[in-house]
Amino acid sequence: MSERLVLPTTNDRALLYEALLPQVEALLAHENDPVAAMANTAAALHTTFAWHWVGFYRVIGEELVLGPFQGPIACTRIARGKGVCGTAWSEARTLLIPDVERFPGHIACSALSRSEVVVPLIGADGTVRAVLDIDSTALDDFTAVDAAALERICMMLAPLLG
Ligand code: SME
Repeated sequence: MSERLVLPTTNDRALLYEALLPQVEALLAHENDPVAAMANTAAALHTTFAWHWVGFYRVIGEELVLGPFQGPIACTRIARGKGVCGTAWSEARTLLIPDVERFPGHIACSALSRSEVVVPLIGADGTVRAVLDIDSTALDDFTAVDAAALERICMMLAPLLG
């Protein structure tokens, strides 16, 4: 398994995802431990796109609990229905937030975050097992291109979460 990502020199996200997704798939094919898989996925996304914060929160009981991430320290627990992450969990759907200050109840782990995308990892039984949370320092940084590619990554990871 390669320990280095091979990516085109471009800012075109569609091209970057096209190169990245098979490499994430290859990383995951050799690892069935969920923490190891989430850790390398967070690192791969952070390295590729240089976002402010990339990480996972796992569903444990009635809370989301901080999992593997890349970026500044973050809040460790989020209740169901709270913030962007807790809402993506309770609604079991991807949330694209162009301006976090306009999302009622947004949890500001970092004052530098301006936009955010949260994608649920949904198990075979339809329940949310974890969420992938990405924060950008740029306003309106995420589009349907990001949502579609990140959902594919989360579909690869979800079976590892039991
Ligand atoms: N902003 C998130 C909290 C997690 S941090 O961004 C890492 C939210 O509102 O759920």
